[in-house]
Amino acid sequence: MNIQKNLEESAAYIRARSHIKPRMGIVLGSGLGSFVDLIDVETSLPYDEIPGFISPSIDGHGGRLLLGHVGNVPIACLQGRVHYYEGHSMTAVVHPTRTMAMLGIEILLLTNSAGGLDAQMAPGDFMIIDDHINLMGDNPLKGPNLAQLGPRFPDMSEAYDRKLNDKLAEILVKQQIRHWRGIYCAVSGPTYETPAEVRYLQMLGGKAVGMSTVPEAIAANHLGLRVCALSCITNPAAGIAKHKLSHEEVTQTARMVEDKFCSLLKEFIAQL
Ligand code: HPA
Repeated sequence: MNIQKNLEESAAYIRARSHIKPRMGIVLGSGLGSFVDLIDVETSLPYDEIPGFISPSIDGHGGRLLLGHVGNVPIACLQGRVHYYEGHSMTAVVHPTRTMAMLGIEILLLTNSAGGLDAQMAPGDFMIIDDHINLMGDNPLKGPNLAQLGPRFPDMSEAYDRKLNDKLAEILVKQQIRHWRGIYCAVSGPTYETPAEVRYLQMLGGKAVGMSTVPEAIAANHLGLRVCALSCITNPAAGIAKHKLSHEEVTQTARMVEDKFCSLLKEFIAQL
């Protein structure tokens, strides 16, 4: 498998179908797909049409790449992502993110649904990801380094761009949206955590737990992109509330706050 060649093939296919040179890339998490309604779309490509892309297999994930504008800002938007727990390699998981970098993005906004590790969090709150702990047991940069993409040992001391995160926080305050800042713990899934695992993550200093985002954040840091990330806290993590967790609860909560999420992103992009 030639990763670089596959990326060039994906990027060439997209460039042949769109004039947009995106400045920013956005990955939309579970249940947060309606942001696409705010995009002045020039090109919409289902993942199964783009060479090298894989279609996600679960509900709540659309599976399209959109190119267009939000206000004056040219963007690329991934509606739906492939997760590691679906059985794909880390290389496959980060392929769409790397493709957006080939198209020219400088800024990447990652979004997801996550479980809240702090008992004070309420479903529908947002959390700005200030840092992460990678507990997935894998890393997208494992294997020979692709020197064209970035260095062998990328620095991760500010994996999430402080200025961009501060801007997100400023807008969340202005729009009076309940939010937190903290550390996102990435696990492989697909099981939700046990209560014992949740206590372990709390001891580590985590504030949210989820099954995505970190692979893309690592690949994006390798590429030298400015990264920021936002979790929608869809549920209290296992054992905090007494009820059982379900994917339906996660997508329903995310859908409930989609309007707030959209107005936040719109303002954020306008201020770039
Ligand atoms: N755990 C892991 N991933 C998640 C959760 C959770 O509680 N909620 C949404 N994604």
